[in-house]
Amino acid sequence: MTVEILSARIATDVERAAEILLSGGLIAVPTETVYGLGADASNGAAVRRVFDVKGRPTNHPLILHVADREAAKNASTDWSPAADILAGLFWPGPLSILTEKAGAVDDVVTGGRGTVVVRVPDHPATLEVLRILHSRGSIGLAAPSANKFGAVSPTSARHVVDDLGNSIDAVLDGDDCRVGVESTIVDCRTDVPVILREGGVPFEAITDALARHGMTITKSPDLVGINDSAGALAPGMLESHYAPRARVEIFADVGELERRESEVEASGMSVARLPHPDNLVEYSRNLYRWLRACDAQGVDVILAVLPPATELGAAIRDRLSKAAATR
Ligand code: TXA
Ligand code: MG
Repeated sequence: MTVEILSARIATDVERAAEILLSGGLIAVPTETVYGLGADASNGAAVRRVFDVKGRPTNHPLILHVADREAAKNASTDWSPAADILAGLFWPGPLSILTEKAGAVDDVVTGGRGTVVVRVPDHPATLEVLRILHSRGSIGLAAPSANKFGAVSPTSARHVVDDLGNSIDAVLDGDDCRVGVESTIVDCRTDVPVILREGGVPFEAITDALARHGMTITKSPDLVGINDSAGALAPGMLESHYAPRARVEIFADVGELERRESEVEASGMSVARLPHPDNLVEYSRNLYRWLRACDAQGVDVILAVLPPATELGAAIRDRLSKAAATR
């Protein structure tokens, strides 16, 4: 199969992307976080192909992408006040909401769970694709990140073609992703929502926003430390995840990194230092691109300095920790 490259800037290409999806095809779509591998969520056979192409276990649920809050409510039987407030504040944007699943959402999307994670992505072309899907009766786009299971997420159309080019129908090229790490996942079923995965909307931003509504938020205990087990609430968060081919080693500061760098060099292995800009937006936007560049250069070991655990630093630390986890 030759992958078709469509441009997010050309209206007829965006319409064609929607048509391919509506006829059961798989398309990689741009979002502000990472590229997603999308299938029409109302087409169970198409969604099953997503798991095949990614090599992802079928009990690992997919995020349901929708055009707006109303469409999200259609996927839920219990849209809570917290869900409504967070959707109003952060959508379209890098926040995903876990809610009770409506019957219209196929079990294949949620891995048989009674819950569904929904999100409105912030990319104009993908939002247009979603509006077309809804207008034709689809509940939305089921889309995990467009990479092989466990590997580094793609933040450009080129990354998708490199990884999955032979096994999907098309890529909608919508330029490089602005955020660069995946969405924050929040369980909104309880009065105090729980963060299940750190991501593009920082804990601090959610805390501040909810405080204005007299509400609070907590982090899942699974987020403490780096060893999210297969039994964790968000079951995609296994030990080794978001991992390049090269071994990744993480350090608290540059001094520690430099000592290790000399050792690795002395052992004859090729080593690369990941940049670690103070600007956390810059760090997150480029993190996956840098990891991929190291693999492209055939580096054996990647050394990275962890950012502080505040703001976007929390998500960056999480991804680097999982990239560095034992395989
Ligand atoms: O930014 C993002 O969230 C990107 C873009 C494409 O939207 N998507 C993404 O999807 O990162 P994926 O499949 O790589 O990660 C989704 C995570 C997985 O850890 C999965 O287990 C969790 O969301 N998840 C999805 N539905 C769930 C559910 N019903 N219950 C618990 N966890 C769920
Ligand atoms: Mg993923």
